[in-house]
Amino acid sequence: MSENALTVLSPAQTAVPETDSPLILALPKGRILKAAAPLLHRAGIVPGPDFNDEKSRLLRFETNDPNIDVVRVRSFDVATFVAFGGAQIGICGADVLMEFDYPEIYAPLDLGIGGCRISIAQPRDRSGLEDNPNRLSQVRVATKYPSITRRHFAARGINASIVHLHGAMELAPVLDLSHLIVDLVDTGSTLRANGLEETHTIAHVTSRLIVNRTALKTQPERISAIINRFRTALASSA
Ligand code: PRP
Ligand code: MG
Repeated sequence: MSENALTVLSPAQTAVPETDSPLILALPKGRILKAAAPLLHRAGIVPGPDFNDEKSRLLRFETNDPNIDVVRVRSFDVATFVAFGGAQIGICGADVLMEFDYPEIYAPLDLGIGGCRISIAQPRDRSGLEDNPNRLSQVRVATKYPSITRRHFAARGINASIVHLHGAMELAPVLDLSHLIVDLVDTGSTLRANGLEETHTIAHVTSRLIVNRTALKTQPERISAIINRFRTALASSA
């Protein structure tokens, strides 16, 4: 490889932090964070006052537990921080776990929050597109899930061309970037508002508690204790 070639590090190439520093819990910004707040509270993890201050530019926060700091990152990045061992624990959507499929991540608990689905959608006036592989041998799909999308269509003998977007996918078919989208659907109101309809559910999604496998091996008591606090918190909310 040439000296200037871009290299993407794999998680196994990075170090695990010292055992006496606080464990890092990675939390996703946005709607999952709101849904996770009561659960965190029941697990006895209360971030400092800056955490709820929307004007604060801080990204790492102490909690009431000197053993745990939290970081607030994009939902896709929770899995990457945990896979690389920068965070030992995280809360992460099953969609993100499916997309990256990191072998370094163990997902011991389904937290039952952030329920939604990964679906295929298309403009309402073009019915049946995704059911017809012959018509769609050159299908273009806009998504923030290139791996899930490629795998889904490849399993059906369709070579999908991916248009990789990071948000507002619903605009892509309307503005002729793609034939279809693969995106999260919750209430369906974003699809409806943009003239699209859901045609196929690829997977149902909830959020999971995830841990770095190496951290679990090197600090089993500390990490297991936190997993158990979440397990108890879940049981008390059932
Ligand atoms: C998510 C998702 C859908 C919408 C689904 O987008 O990408 O667009 O929510 O929810 P609904 O079915 O209840 O309408 P988000 O609002 O997170 O914005 P983004 O895609 O632009 O990041
Ligand atoms: Mg969206």
